Amino acid sequence: MNKLRLLIFSLSLVVVVVFMSSCFNNRSTGLEYAPNMYEHKAFDPDQPNENFKDGKTAQLPPDGTTPVGFDRLEDDYPNTLEGYEAASKSLSNPYPLTMANLEEGKTLYLNMCSHCHNFDGKGNGSIIKLQKFPPPPSYSTGTSSRGGAMKDLTDGKIFHTITYGVNLMGPHKYQLTPTERWKIVMYVHELQKLQ
Ligand code: HEC
Repeated sequence: MNKLRLLIFSLSLVVVVVFMSSCFNNRSTGLEYAPNMYEHKAFDPDQPNENFKDGKTAQLPPDGTTPVGFDRLEDDYPNTLEGYEAASKSLSNPYPLTMANLEEGKTLYLNMCSHCHNFDGKGNGSIIKLQKFPPPPSYSTGTSSRGGAMKDLTDGKIFHTITYGVNLMGPHKYQLTPTERWKIVMYVHELQKLQ
């Protein structure tokens, strides 16, 4: 019995000492459980790193490269009329015209554009019918405010417009990835052919 008491006493003493000792150094993080959650092997972005010439972990991407999921439109084709014309000359859809891509473009178009441009692209979408918003020009029979027939709009012009918007149409670069925008461009070309 005495032995048991002694054991309980010494165990409680250990607990009390451990508990009290945590009070003395208030900058200590105390006993860490599974410290590899905090002290991992990977470099933190702000950590020195001897693997690189400048000794830093955070490196700039190499010149002329495009990170996955980003587009360089902002650098090469600014939100100006010149940028729009340049995009028209140099950009073409990098995705092949397949049923799957077109179907995806159609779904995205119906979700993101049809409330203004209408499901057939004629410019009489649901919010236009409320008479709160002027109708956008029809893709097939309208005229672009930047000159030329809407049915002649090129890959680059449509991609530029979705990215930056134009006048009353807002930009969609934050809602749609470049890949999604290209699939919509593909579908808009189909709507340009409607009579
Ligand atoms: C809030 C309504 C609205 C939404 C949403 C909208 N648009 Fe527009 N869009 C307009 C209006 C209005 C214009 C005419 C603007 C002008 O030229 O003054 C326009 C013009 C355009 C043009 C013609 C650009 C040019 O060079 O003349 C294209 C192409 C176009 N939109 C595509 C799209 C696509 C694709 C989407 C969906 C990703 C979309 N729009 C979403 C209202 C909208």
